[in-house]
Amino acid sequence: MHHFVLKNGGLHAEGVSLEVLAEQVGTPTYVYSTATLTRHYGLLRDAVAQHRHALGDALIAFAVKANSNISVLATLARLGCGADTVSEGEIRRALKAGVPADRIIFSGVGKTDAELAFALDQGVRQINVESGVELDRLIAVVERMGLKQRGPADRAVGPPEVAIRVNPKVGAGGHAKITTGGEGDKFGVPVEQALALYARAAASPHVTPVGLACHIGSQITDLAPLEAAFRTLRDMTLTLRAQGLSVTRLDLGGGLGVPYHGQADTASIADYVAMCARVLDGLDVEAAFEPGRLLAANAGVLLSRVIQVNERADGRRFLVLDAAMNDLMRPALYDAFHEVVPVRPRDGEALPYDIVGPVCETGDTFARDRMLAPLKAGDLVAFTGAGAYGAVMSSEYNSRPLVAEVLVDGDRWAVIRDRPTYEDMWAREPKADWL
Ligand code: LLP
Repeated sequence: MHHFVLKNGGLHAEGVSLEVLAEQVGTPTYVYSTATLTRHYGLLRDAVAQHRHALGDALIAFAVKANSNISVLATLARLGCGADTVSEGEIRRALKAGVPADRIIFSGVGKTDAELAFALDQGVRQINVESGVELDRLIAVVERMGLKQRGPADRAVGPPEVAIRVNPKVGAGGHAKITTGGEGDKFGVPVEQALALYARAAASPHVTPVGLACHIGSQITDLAPLEAAFRTLRDMTLTLRAQGLSVTRLDLGGGLGVPYHGQADTASIADYVAMCARVLDGLDVEAAFEPGRLLAANAGVLLSRVIQVNERADGRRFLVLDAAMNDLMRPALYDAFHEVVPVRPRDGEALPYDIVGPVCETGDTFARDRMLAPLKAGDLVAFTGAGAYGAVMSSEYNSRPLVAEVLVDGDRWAVIRDRPTYEDMWAREPKADWL
């Protein structure tokens, strides 16, 4: 469910015409819908609230990596959403967008000492430790900083609260490159070692282990692997408690998929949260959720203009767009499917198009033999489901200026990331003084 709809024959983002936006901002441009972000967050928040008995005072922490635009983060922050972060840059963005530090989780497989120190200094809610060596480094950093230095003066002072990220040996996801919970994947600590690590953390005066975390992959449409992973967390909680250790939080990660194909078999938010509640019921823990795609994917489209249509003698028809793989990498990287819709559909029979960008490699192909209403040079199209892992993964490959971003809210809109001018781009590249 989203708020990109046809009105008077043309596609709109809420009350704003995409044709007008293309005119004013140019293309390619990402366009986000506040109402869709709000709706998705609300659905999750309400489902979680319904299961308060099992999920406690749960934290929903948006995975900033999915869409780190400060206005998007600020939109979610105003609704009470926290942030799941994986770098100092993401923590800084979340703070700048108004997410309070005590709603920020710091995860990631390779945090530097400087990043850990920064997170401690800000007093983030929780650090998810992903290995024994990381725990040792964190303890050393805390020791070096001295406990009194943790957090601003008005925040509780004490050892930082950590969760151990478990590798539950259940991998799942829409593509091998976004599966994270498998045994051979780089993420998390295997169950037996995680139990030992938890006890080791509990014995240190420099950290306070409060819980366990897992994240087994992304674009997961079936609840079974998620449930298996959460059951592992449940069993581990009971084992740790039997050893006299306290476990008060379970961080269930992100990963729930979205219906890119409009498929009806994608698990719903309500079913997902009910499953989580079933698994955690009776444990008396606070849950945390780290959704990225679920909140942002359908809240964004990538708006692009047709440069030309190349028709070959053999009948192959290339729709050459002004958006390319540097603007939306997902098809090139994961063979991902994004629906492409004409902004002002023309009458006429649908035709098969190979949808490509101008970048000089065959990887710059968004889709093959896609059936679309007839299109001509100058027409606009929108890639749907592009609000997550779209703009954040864009680059300036082929010296194409970084794609712009626009946020719509009802009838108003704002550019929330400027397209750089060529001068802006050159300014970032000081010429070596001997040249
Ligand atoms: N938590 C952790 C620790 C994660 O690593 C991720 C995503 C999330 C939460 C959010 O997952 P989500 O709810 O969005 O599935 N670039 C890829 C996706 C990479 C996901 C990486 N981790 C793509 O475009 O499909």
